[in-house]
Amino acid sequence: MLKLGSLELSSPFILAPMESVSDCAYRRVCWDRGASLTWTEMIRARGLTRNNKSTFDLIDTFDPEVLTGVQLLVTNEKELVEALSKLEGSTSAHFKNIRAVDLNFGCPSPEVIKIGAGPALLKRRAKLEAIFSALGEWKKKTTLPIGAVGVKIRLGLNRMEQDQKVYLPIVELANEHVDYVVIHARHARQDSTEKPTWSAIAEARTRSKIPIIGNGDIVTLDDWNRLRRETNAEGALIARGAIRSPWVFRGLRGLGSGTPESLAEIDAAETQYLALADKFGTKPKFREWHREGFRRMRARLNGETLAGPSLPANEHMK
Ligand SMILES: Cc1cc2nc3c(=O)[nH]c(=O)nc-3n(C[C@H](O)[C@H](O)[C@H](O)COP(=O)(O)O)c2cc1C
Repeated sequence: MLKLGSLELSSPFILAPMESVSDCAYRRVCWDRGASLTWTEMIRARGLTRNNKSTFDLIDTFDPEVLTGVQLLVTNEKELVEALSKLEGSTSAHFKNIRAVDLNFGCPSPEVIKIGAGPALLKRRAKLEAIFSALGEWKKKTTLPIGAVGVKIRLGLNRMEQDQKVYLPIVELANEHVDYVVIHARHARQDSTEKPTWSAIAEARTRSKIPIIGNGDIVTLDDWNRLRRETNAEGALIARGAIRSPWVFRGLRGLGSGTPESLAEIDAAETQYLALADKFGTKPKFREWHREGFRRMRARLNGETLAGPSLPANEHMK
């Protein structure tokens, strides 16, 4: 069991926030197969403060049984406080079951970095402190049932920042204000095919008083055992592994295979997904991707290789 703030998770294995992937219906599919906490895709705080309807619609916490948090992208503490007050002030069903808030300091998109958000903030200690503190103070006062607040970081904006170990003072700052830190063990210029630097997670862990969630290439129980051994991280955030197979959580929990065992298993998961997507009014961008995802799962089971992209277009991975 893993405790983040007052949230008691049934396992250390958390579904990552993923654009075009982590919609309410797919979160349920992963939850039923062993994910212990799930996230919406990244929501721009600026879209909330400007009352942008399509931004509000992306917050789709319709399912009360699935522990779900909202991930926000912010540029400063004022924007954060304003965005949080929008969440708080709304009676929309979209917002009903928000149990955690995460801040994204990892998105490598040039557009995000240009506005001084995401990894552009990793080195800006005073700004970060103001943001972390605003989030921690909000949690103390909010009327929403928020169990945990935290941050997701990369190792730096670039190689130089990683070498300067900018992530270490961030962990110390986080100790004072929030409940956990997710560390995606790559810097923001790194390609997702490059090997993550788990040793940085281990270093960060020696400075932390709060749980550290490791992220980057964790798919199998062997990966998790190695992450534990090498870093002492308390949890793992799973992204691409859960696109390839929502059963990845079953494998991580040691309860069976991390991949589907039969076509019938894939058919049942897709039927469940589509029924939930209808129920929740899931947007076409998610549905289209998941239909393709299930098609790929069937092909893999049949030993076929399909052409075309294996990930939906997104600005979070190079
Ligand atoms: C399709 C896709 C969308 C993503 N969207 C987000 C996002 O909205 N917010 C975020 O913090 N990270 C996002 N990421 C990054 C993942 O959360 C994770 O940090 C990264 O994929 C490394 O984990 P993995 O090795 O398990 O894939 C995305 C990744 C992918 C593949």
